[in-house]
Amino acid sequence: MLSRRTILTGATLAGAGAVVARPLWQATAAPEPQLLKVPDLIDARKEGQSLTLKVQTGTTAFFPDQESPTLGYNGSYLGPVIRLHRGDDVEIAVTNALTEDTTVHWHGLLIPGEVDGGPHQLIQPGTTWRPVLSVRQPSATLFYHSHMHDRTAEQVYSGLAGVLLVTDDDEKALGLPSEYGVDDLPLLLQDRQFEDGRLVLPQGMMSLMMGRRGDTLLVNGTPNPVAHVPRRLARLRLVNGSNARIFNLAFSDDRAFHWIASEGGLLERPVELRSLTLAPGERAEILADFSDGRTVALETGPDLNMPMMMGMQTRLRSFASDLFGGSREHILRFEPRPGAAAAKAAIPERLVTRERVDAAQAVRRRRFVLNMGMGGMMGGRGSMMGGGQGSGMAMHAINGRAFDIARIDEQVRLGDIEIWEASGEMMAHPFHIHGVHFEVLSRDGGKPTVRDQGLRDTVLVKEPVELLVRFTQPATKAPFMYHCHILEHEDNGMMGQFTAG
Ligand code: C2O
Ligand code: CU
Ligand code: CU
Repeated sequence: MLSRRTILTGATLAGAGAVVARPLWQATAAPEPQLLKVPDLIDARKEGQSLTLKVQTGTTAFFPDQESPTLGYNGSYLGPVIRLHRGDDVEIAVTNALTEDTTVHWHGLLIPGEVDGGPHQLIQPGTTWRPVLSVRQPSATLFYHSHMHDRTAEQVYSGLAGVLLVTDDDEKALGLPSEYGVDDLPLLLQDRQFEDGRLVLPQGMMSLMMGRRGDTLLVNGTPNPVAHVPRRLARLRLVNGSNARIFNLAFSDDRAFHWIASEGGLLERPVELRSLTLAPGERAEILADFSDGRTVALETGPDLNMPMMMGMQTRLRSFASDLFGGSREHILRFEPRPGAAAAKAAIPERLVTRERVDAAQAVRRRRFVLNMGMGGMMGGRGSMMGGGQGSGMAMHAINGRAFDIARIDEQVRLGDIEIWEASGEMMAHPFHIHGVHFEVLSRDGGKPTVRDQGLRDTVLVKEPVELLVRFTQPATKAPFMYHCHILEHEDNGMMGQFTAG
């Protein structure tokens, strides 16, 4: 299979052109294929509901013989997949073996503020934090990662992230593919920047403004991975663990797949799609059918979420698609194992029934505008940067105020239902709220899109989006955060905090 990139690379190798016009987002060379790494699975029931995570430094050879200093949980880069069961209470002892502070946030888990792992639950070097997590939510693919204020972007970039699963009986009854690492695969997608095969941290104003991007796509820390899969249906748990990169996922042959779960868990019924947008912090589970035995790649469209690109998207759509349209980037190759195809896989027609929250019960509306602080960039104190301490330094804000850990921005009543309206300036921003699952009520004054459905905890906003939020978890001892999940935006002020009690 010849992708555009292999053709370009081939031309370079053959010396056909001294200068190859290569779009800026493409890697300098396609790395050698490697077997997809599948993280260890830690099942809380098998561990007697008591788990340990060690936050540590290490070195990782992303490419053979080229070691990079990295961070990880129980390993050198990323962490194990942790499986929790609905109804259980699980203690996770997190030991910080770094020489700097960190936190571990359980993104998507519905638990009280003081065990959420946000910036208020600091774990100092050499100490152990022991939250007990009461799992009272349906099966879902969640995410855990550092939430160290000012350092989240760097720590996650360096490797402090992992996948967290919740499982329950409703899910088991559906008979979805469930052999971990075989037909049930966690796929933590990240873009990272490499120089001479070594991981580097992009610096500079552009990185802080738009979020760090990288020239290499990794899945579970593997560049150019190959996954051997059985000739049958597989459940792919897609997690966008990039700092800033939005993926536009599709298969290389544009085959259809079924989207079965959003951030909050299973949808009511599978949705047939051919492409799916996944922003940082978002997760989606899909069923992909490999029974035809053909090799196929997961690919992504180009990275267009930058202010100057947004202009091209809207005003010069056809020009942009001429320029970028044909050049999807390769992420991961699936090679079905030889052998007989399984019987035609049955996709359940219905997945779960879920109780709907009635928008008429909303008692309050709050608005959040995610500000990009161009004023800060010019060194000025524009009106956007008016409030809050140290705001002259901050580059980004929400409702004109840069994050201040000493300030509570909003107070909600536990049990209330509210409408939160979020919009973003200059580019699309993944808006995330801790401690809740919400539904998208409307987008840009109209109906939500197909992709907006289901229970969410992170959603892409630019145009105003109305979210129906129910606050079920207390945040009195420590607040919950809401923020943009472009981690450089979050670290640089695009975050606020609320109490619920
Ligand atoms: Cu995934 Cu507040 O974060
Ligand atoms: Cu979160
Ligand atoms: Cu943002």
